Amino acid sequence: MKKEDLLHLKGVSVLYGGVKALDKVDVSLRRGEIVALMGPNGAGKSTVLKAAFGLAPLASGQVMLEGRPFTPVVHEMVRRGVVLVPQGRRVFTRLSIEENLEIGAYFLKDREETARRVEEALAFFPALKKKRKLKARALSGGEQQMLAIARGLVAGPRALLLDEPSLGLSPKIIKEVFAKIKEINESKGTSVMVVEHNLKSLLGIVDRAYVLDKGKVVAEETAEGLRTSGILERVFMGKLET
Ligand SMILES: Nc1ncnc2c1ncn2[C@@H]1O[C@H](COP(=O)(O)OP(=O)(O)O)[C@@H](O)[C@H]1O
Ligand SMILES: [Mg+2]
Repeated sequence: MKKEDLLHLKGVSVLYGGVKALDKVDVSLRRGEIVALMGPNGAGKSTVLKAAFGLAPLASGQVMLEGRPFTPVVHEMVRRGVVLVPQGRRVFTRLSIEENLEIGAYFLKDREETARRVEEALAFFPALKKKRKLKARALSGGEQQMLAIARGLVAGPRALLLDEPSLGLSPKIIKEVFAKIKEINESKGTSVMVVEHNLKSLLGIVDRAYVLDKGKVVAEETAEGLRTSGILERVFMGKLET
């Protein structure tokens, strides 16, 4: 355990019936950094995020928050500063953008503070601010992804866990989403753990990456190491986008 670790999965195994989704995985998120989880489909990337958030059953190992062992319990995670934005842009399509954002602060039970945070999030996402009264279903895929992230931000997280935020988006929009993630990280000091397939757009913003395969961490690299070690080519067997 390093002192600067905010979140640390220590020797974590997850079993789904007979399937070992994670096998003694060691993954950490340090204060202020952006960490990527990469690897082929079924490698266990989503399960790492779920385990950190209390959504996956731990067969062994321990999750640590700020150096202390703790049991992630879904309904308490947001309050404890850990927010998961799951795969698939799950926004409430029948609710307005504002209402979607208010849900991100549900645990506050304080209308003024909620309103303040919603304004702060809208200021951060000008494209959403212009459409604040519209139903979320009127938004494009990219805007819905921004809304899902913005809703996470309203909770004021220390650790933001993002599962494939670029899925199904065009290269131009992916670039915008990643630029926003970087901006959140830099301006708010939020630590980010992001599952990502789109390696090219990610390399510019990450500090570190783990490569998973078949439930195990097969490599841990710095941003520089990712560019030079050839690990990605090996793991993706020539499927690396350049
Ligand atoms: N709820 C579940 N029930 C049963 N098996 C699951 C469940 N979630 C994930 N798995 C299995 O665990 C493994 C890892 O899944 P996942 O973490 O979703 O991989 P990734 O996100 O890297 O594609 C896969 O073999 C997957 O089929
Ligand atoms: Mg996944």
